[in-house]
Amino acid sequence: MYKRIVVLTGAGISAESGIRTFRDQDGLWERHHIEDVATPEGYARNKELVEAFYNDRWQQLLSAGVEPNPAHLALARLEKEFDGEFLLITQNIDNLHERAGSFKLIHMHGELVKGRCPQSGQTFLLTEPFGPDHLCTCCIPGQRLRPHVVWFGEMPLGLDRIQFALEECDLFIAIGTSGTVYPAAGFVDTANHHGAHTVEVNLAPPARDSEFQLHLTGKAGEIMPTLVGQILSGEKISGSC
Ligand code: OAD
Repeated sequence: MYKRIVVLTGAGISAESGIRTFRDQDGLWERHHIEDVATPEGYARNKELVEAFYNDRWQQLLSAGVEPNPAHLALARLEKEFDGEFLLITQNIDNLHERAGSFKLIHMHGELVKGRCPQSGQTFLLTEPFGPDHLCTCCIPGQRLRPHVVWFGEMPLGLDRIQFALEECDLFIAIGTSGTVYPAAGFVDTANHHGAHTVEVNLAPPARDSEFQLHLTGKAGEIMPTLVGQILSGEKISGSC
């Protein structure tokens, strides 16, 4: 039935793996000021504070018990078994999609497990926490690595490829995202405009002005395995997941 699928994920898909979302009750942005830990200006003001924030989240990601959940696994299965074009776009900086087995993946807001040289832009897999002595090996003298994350005011990654895929797709699914941060919040408009079937999976009921044609309310980990089964059997997604 579908030939080209684009999936967008947000913090909600990792909630069942034990990673806090941003805007739900007790979310990350209730405990931290965005301007302090997620802007270039905040980093320029206080590198140690920003590094501590990302070091903590990196440690949490490595901790026992944080594992891909059935929603991550279902998307990896979809990529593997689907007979058409597939692209997974995530706003998440965790690595649970790749740990579940996804490859066709764009981390549009960067990756928690990497540091970036502020001079050359080269990225490095983290082997130790960020700090004054954690330097790149691409420059002489080595530069202090910054988190490889996209902060507010910076350009998300992979936008050209994303735009092309959105214009071509016939199914767009957004999972576990509040749709408050652009440009990701506008992807549904692009997909609608180009004739795709647009489906939202979220724990919360749809907003009154939702742009999605179909909304499935519930936990991603419970909905996604059935939904992927439907897609792989060639059915149009309906509200009966
Ligand atoms: P939010 O925290 O804004 O939204 C999480 C969404 O997940 C909410 O709509 C919840 O209802 C939903 N949700 C929670 N648990 C769920 C579950 N088990 N199954 C399905 N849905 C669930 O997170 P994002 O939309 O991802 O950007 O936030 C977007 C961006 O804002 C982030 O990438 C980050 C943040 O500021 C940057 O840091 C640049």
